Amino acid sequence: MTALKGLRDDVYRRPLATALDRLGVEGGWRCVDVGAGGGDVSVALAEVVGRDGRVYAVDSDPAARDEAAAAAAAHSQVLAITQAAEELLLPESVDLAFCRFLLLHVLDPAVVVARMARAVRPGGWVVVQEPITTAGRVGGVALSMPDARHPDIGALAPGLVRDAGLTVVDAWAEAPAGVGPGPVATYLESLTGVDPGDDPIVLPPLVTVLGRKSGGE
Ligand SMILES: C[S@@+](CC[C@H](N)C(=O)[O-])C[C@H]1O[C@@H](n2cnc3c(N)ncnc32)[C@H](O)[C@@H]1O
Repeated sequence: MTALKGLRDDVYRRPLATALDRLGVEGGWRCVDVGAGGGDVSVALAEVVGRDGRVYAVDSDPAARDEAAAAAAAHSQVLAITQAAEELLLPESVDLAFCRFLLLHVLDPAVVVARMARAVRPGGWVVVQEPITTAGRVGGVALSMPDARHPDIGALAPGLVRDAGLTVVDAWAEAPAGVGPGPVATYLESLTGVDPGDDPIVLPPLVTVLGRKSGGE
């Protein structure tokens, strides 16, 4: 899990950077990273919001909370919390609620996105970054991830954000791809146990949706 997490951070770092860049996250922002896992997104947010900002790293799994806290040890602006996304409740309204690779695992993604929308201030942002796992390809053949509850939730993400009462300001998909040895092949092998050899790979695209809550502008 930890090795896979490190690889995920490596190959999916670009979609994360694109999202933070398009959003224009600034120093001093209050954020929540929902389903923070190992804390990669929390640390990336902490680096942008700086010491005047705050990042709540929320996960339902206490072990993940500890992992996120350890990853963010050098960032005192990160507060790691054990909490279910369905019951998200923070001590203050935030400027940004972010989730990545979370909605594919939860029982009801709409409940979680609604909860994230509640957590942000008027004019604040909800960013959802979720995969379409079956759109991945190895040698042109579709991947599948049957263990996830909603393996293709990324394809529904823009509708989920709109249905939570937010304005969809931007949405796009981005997928790491490659051929031959390298982080993309290593990630795929860790995920599926299959060595792709020399086959070209397109990892599952991540659909990013930038949703904005009305008011406050
Ligand atoms: C695949 S990991 C993604 C971690 C991180 N967001 C990333 O992109 O690297 C999914 C995380 O969501 C957490 N999770 C799953 N269901 C959850 C729920 N209902 N509420 C909060 N966290 C949840 C898991 O414990 C796990 O740490």
